[in-house]
Amino acid sequence: GKVRAPTHIISTISDDRGEEPCYAGVPMSSIVEQGFGVGDVISLLWFKRSLPRYCTKFIEICVMLCADHGPCVSGAHNTIVTARAGKDLVSSLVSGLLTIGPRFGGAIDDAARYFKDAYDRGLTPYEFVESMKKKGIRVPGIGHRIKRGDNRDKRVELLQLFARTNFPSVKYMEYAVQVETYTLSKANNLVLNVDGAIGSLFLDLLAGSGMFTKQEIDEIVEIGYLNGLFVLARSIGLIGHTFDQKRLKQPLYRHPWEDVLYTKWGMVVWFLDD
Ligand code: ACO
Ligand code: LMR
Repeated sequence: GKVRAPTHIISTISDDRGEEPCYAGVPMSSIVEQGFGVGDVISLLWFKRSLPRYCTKFIEICVMLCADHGPCVSGAHNTIVTARAGKDLVSSLVSGLLTIGPRFGGAIDDAARYFKDAYDRGLTPYEFVESMKKKGIRVPGIGHRIKRGDNRDKRVELLQLFARTNFPSVKYMEYAVQVETYTLSKANNLVLNVDGAIGSLFLDLLAGSGMFTKQEIDEIVEIGYLNGLFVLARSIGLIGHTFDQKRLKQPLYRHPWEDVLYTKWGMVVWFLDD
């Protein structure tokens, strides 16, 4: 009989061999005819299934709300400096993307992991936060450089409002809010941030939609799909910052001397700072 030559690549999300490309088996013409949006395309290519409208709408809201946060944040700053050094679009974009990580924008997966583990094990917010402190790990999804208990992040409020109105259950989000109530009692900057809001709400989306088995949810959380939402969203803003700098014909950036404390004595910095 025929012997199948071994393949070098396995792919399960898309197929371009027919008359038209398919995303998770859905032909491009249906995607256009049915008026699918970016949320539907993300559902097909990342989760390999069509999700209900409230889920795809939620994904789209995440992308819109995280698209940009001004020129001063880590990612935009890197992109601006790179564009001003005369580099091309892709270099400027990836220079900004490379700042996304545990402190900036890339805490969504860890927030989902830790909130899920703590909630599923029935830990009180006190037990959860204090156990993290003992391990010397900052709670992912908590804390912000400029947002405070009395100056909440509007993005978090908008995501919570949408989920409370449209999701069948928001148990993980409510747990994250209880964690925030506890951390805010310790310090005013320890708010639930946008990474924590998306991480906890995506757990609710996965668990409440009835579209995923428990095993699939564990796999999504373990592999870490959710930082992808911030990477995708912020690319929109970083591309915008690149165009902005080019349009403005901005010269090479050099950081001002006055803004650097030149010293051999690392400790002195902190004494002066206090
Ligand atoms: N959990 C526990 N304690 C915290 C946390 C946290 N998540 N964040 C800050 N603290 C504590 C710090 O330990 C510090 O106390 P210490 O001086 O006794 O150690 C105090 O709060 C002040 O911390 P700073 O370092 O001044 O806070 P900073 O403003 O530099 O940090 C940051 C902001 C990086 C966001 C921080 O809160 C953090 O690491 N959070 C977890 C990661 C995260 O969620 N990042 C996403 C942010 S949102 C976004 O980027 C889109
Ligand atoms: C962002 O979305 O970039 C911010 O939350 C981070 C910041 O420092 O404002």
